Parts: sequence; structure tokens; C-alpha cells
Amino acid sequence: MNKNDMILEVRDLTKVFPAGKGRTLKAVDSISFTVNKGECLAVIGESGCGKSTLARLVTGVEKATSGSILFMGEDVANAGRRELKAMRRNMQMIFQSPVSSVSPRMTIGTFLLEPYINYGICCRQEAQERISELLSKVRLNDDCLRKYPHQLSGGELQRVCIARAFSLDPRLLVCDEITSALDVSVQDDVLRLFHSLQTGSGIACLFICHDLALVSSFSDRVMVMYLGQTVEIIDSKRLGRDAVHPYTIGLLRSMLFVSSDRNKPLTAMKGELQSPVDIPENCHFCTRCPYAEKRCFLERPQLREVETGHLAACFRV
Ligand SMILES: Nc1ncnc2c1ncn2[C@@H]1O[C@H](COP(=O)(O)OP(=O)(O)OP(=O)(O)O)[C@@H](O)[C@H]1O
Ligand code: SF4
Ligand SMILES: [Mg+2]
Repeated sequence: MNKNDMILEVRDLTKVFPAGKGRTLKAVDSISFTVNKGECLAVIGESGCGKSTLARLVTGVEKATSGSILFMGEDVANAGRRELKAMRRNMQMIFQSPVSSVSPRMTIGTFLLEPYINYGICCRQEAQERISELLSKVRLNDDCLRKYPHQLSGGELQRVCIARAFSLDPRLLVCDEITSALDVSVQDDVLRLFHSLQTGSGIACLFICHDLALVSSFSDRVMVMYLGQTVEIIDSKRLGRDAVHPYTIGLLRSMLFVSSDRNKPLTAMKGELQSPVDIPENCHFCTRCPYAEKRCFLERPQLREVETGHLAACFRV
């Protein structure tokens, strides 16, 4: 891959939180990955595996304990407040809950105008024209500009947040479970809309989700996390056929996503999840893996390339 194609390069990123009584919790544990221009990298994993912490680190909301994050060649992990503000023009985040993303005291018009004012992009009149154009792209009309957040439905409000994220034409969108707080009936609609805007604009995306079937249908690559670690990175089109990590296969099986002739005997995920507090330097999946052997409880398997562009962290592969 050409270095110039990379928008985001994350190396050995770690975030350790204190967990009381001198204990620690590694929410993100030596994670490395890249996102290329225009690419959608989906991050999936079960609750508590560190997805939101990763998003907060990448966007500079949270400071890393160690490791590096290069966004368009700039160091996010060590950026000061002013540098972060400049970077955020090119890196926008969309959160799970649209209600907590918009101040209840602000009209939608003010909320959408804010980025243009903050970054001195253009005059108010031009900003208003751009906002109208954006609103029509997210299938809302100018009537909503006078409204307050509580006067919109969850789906409408999330479409407003999507419009704002696209307003400055960023290079990267970091999306953390952007549909999971919405009513099931509108989730698909919002997702489809987001996807068409993202692919149409060529903006790269780090798309966090817990639904593997969903993300594999529209992302380019999938990164699977388990208790703070990356266990597999694979092309989305190859996921159903070529995934090798027992956890990824377990997820696929649990959604009846793989073909029945697949010769991999993991049927369900049994066993206890390890406590994330003071977790040993082992394969974190060892307590649930049907193939675990002694070594898996004592050593951490490194993420390595099993075939071109396909990485996995397991002693068996
Ligand atoms: N500020 C904090 N202080 C201490 N522990 C934290 C803090 N933030 C997150 N954690 C812990 O870090 C781990 C990862 O949390 P995170 O919110 O990143 O998970 P997640 O994958 O986003 O989960 P979910 O799918 O439920 O949103 C969890 O064990 C969580 O309890
Ligand atoms: S390293 Fe061992 S425990 Fe971990 S996934 Fe591979 S076989 Fe299972
Ligand atoms: Mg989360």
C-alpha cells in the first residue's frame, strides 16, 4: 500500500484506566491499524471491548497511555488544544446518541452554522446556502432550522448530526454506533443514507458497530476486537469465507452468516469472559476458545499477516 493513501495510521495504541486498589484496566491494548483515503474500516466487537475508547483516542478526546496516532501525517496523540482544533476540521465524529450531541438550548440552524463560524469558512449567507444543500442530502428541509432538538425525532436528529459531520468536507469520519440509539424502524434508513453520502464523498470512515452482518455489507475492511485487542483484520468481502480467528468465526456462526459446509467446528461461544481488570498478557479469548492450549493462557499471539492484507492474532494460524 502506498503511504500517501493512508489517512490514519495507528501504532501500538494503548489506553490504561485505573481500576481501583492499584489495579488497572487496558481498554485498548497495543492496537495497530490503518485507514486509507475513502475507505470504510468497520470496528466490531462485543460490549466493553474498547471500541468507544478507541474512537475517543483517535479523535483526541482521550489521551493515549502509549502508542502513536498519525492523522494525515500529524501526531494526534501528542497534539495540543490548538493543533487538535485544526485537525478536527478534517476529522469529524458522529456519536451514538444524537440527543446528547446537540445542545437542547440551540436551534438546529445554530447547530449547523457553528462549524462554519468556528472555522471561519465562509460568510453567513454562503453557509446558509450550504446548509440547505446538506439538509436536502439528508432528506430534511429548511423548516427544521428553526426547531430545537426535542422537536425532531431521533432519526431526524441523527440525520442533522450526519449533515453537520459532512459540512466541513472532512477527510475522516469516526462513527460510534450511530444507529444503535435509534428506533429499529429507522436504523436501516439512516445507515443507508450515511453510506451513500460516505461513498459518494470519498471520505474515509472508521465505523464502529456491534453488528458484524451489517457492517460487512457496506464496509471495505473489518477489524474485530476482543477485550482491548485486535484479533483479526480482513477484507469485508472475504469475511464470510476466509475469516480464521476462532472469535470471528464464532461471531459469524452466531449469526448464521457462514455457509453450512464450512469445515470449522466452533458452534457457539461458551465459557467465561476474562475480567478486563489486571488481565494477563495472554490470548484474551483463551477462556472461551475451543482450541485453547496451555500456551494461549500464558502468551499473547501477535497480529500477523496470514495472507495479503489479512491479519489475525492466533497461535493456530
Ligand atoms: N473512563 C474510564 N475509566 C475506567 N474504565 C473505563 C473508562 N472508559 C471505559 N472504561 C472501561 O474500558 C472498557 C472499554 O470500554 P468502551 O466504552 O471503550 O467499550 P465499548 O466497546 O465501546 O463498549 P459498548 O459496545 O458497550 O459501547 C470497559 O471495560 C469500560 O468499563
Ligand atoms: S491463540 Fe489460542 S486461545 Fe487464542 S484464539 Fe488462537 S487457539 Fe484460541
Ligand atoms: Mg461504545
